[in-house]
Amino acid sequence: MNKPKAAITAVGAYLPEYVLTNKILETMVDTTDEWITTRTGIKQRHILKEEGKGTSYLAIKAAEDLLRKRDLDPAEIDMVIMATATPDMPVAATAAYVATEIGAKNAFSYDLQAACSSFLYGMSTASAYIESGRYKKVLLIGADKMSSIIDYTDRTTCIIFGDGAGAVLFEPNEEGLGLQDEYLRTDGIGREFLKIDAGGSILPASEETVREKKHYVFQDGKTVFKFAVSNMADVAARIMERNQLTKDDVHWLVPHQANKRIIDATANRMGLEAEKVMMNIQEYGNTTSATLPLLLHDYERQLKKGDNLVFAAFGGGFTWGSIYLKWAYNA
Ligand code: UT7
Repeated sequence: MNKPKAAITAVGAYLPEYVLTNKILETMVDTTDEWITTRTGIKQRHILKEEGKGTSYLAIKAAEDLLRKRDLDPAEIDMVIMATATPDMPVAATAAYVATEIGAKNAFSYDLQAACSSFLYGMSTASAYIESGRYKKVLLIGADKMSSIIDYTDRTTCIIFGDGAGAVLFEPNEEGLGLQDEYLRTDGIGREFLKIDAGGSILPASEETVREKKHYVFQDGKTVFKFAVSNMADVAARIMERNQLTKDDVHWLVPHQANKRIIDATANRMGLEAEKVMMNIQEYGNTTSATLPLLLHDYERQLKKGDNLVFAAFGGGFTWGSIYLKWAYNA
């Protein structure tokens, strides 16, 4: 008998209400709507404004959306994985709080951090638990409150990022649908180019680190861009080759939403027409761990059982990779 595959069987999402447009950013830093649009493809992003609410708030809302849509009893969930680069706190797993709040009282849970590749790696982890046969329902949530680590006086980063959350449920599939193959990579040279200097074990928080704004994201955009363009395209092309997928076999590219130019380069390399490329960067910006599930949420109605999806992501670390997955249901 063939081993069951791990399929995505439900999707949920949440975006905070407040919308930060390029026009508003023009009043905050020295930038223009035109520059942001042509260089990144972003027109607006959602921001969680309410004090005292962290990433768990976004994650809980996305998970509740999934539970409601699927009419699922949370007590049936075996495991909750939180893909996030902005946990509620440095210590105490955000996933544990989220699992308890949504009523997943029989689940164990933990956080998984790989910057913008967190959700992609989470898909690999969630699938491996399902394929092992030990667990039947794994909830994977990608959520980030990027506004909590962004310096809104730095025009090179504040125009890019947004807050949001998405959730997917992984379950065993006996029809061969679900995750087919993955190619995941890392390269530690990347940490010089995209990082938060302080607040970790090398440089704990102090008055000085706060004064020098070392708790915010630093990005050498040009260097990260170069690595992202070539590496995201490479892994997507490689996963196609390895699975003998032609451009006609691929129904959808599901790319991390960091910059429209990186997405276009990946699609070009794969030979895909724009109609096959999922894109919502114009509305949400880069929500880090939430970009991939937010795409699935927005395109869910267009997806058909058996569709071939190629996921690709690139992020800090560096971390990157591609996953080939067969979609398992008609919405
Ligand atoms: O998701 C995790 C991985 N992250 C990424 O994949 C992001 C990769 N990087 C990028 O997407 C791009 O590098 C950015 C969008 C961050 C920047 O775009 P760029 O085309 O690489 O611009 P640049 O950094 O080369 O800057 C070009 C010019 C500079 O001016 P000078 O030196 O040529 O006079 C910048 O100072 O644009 C200037 N600039 C801006 N101008 C207006 C930088 N930011 C802005 C801004 N508005 N917001």
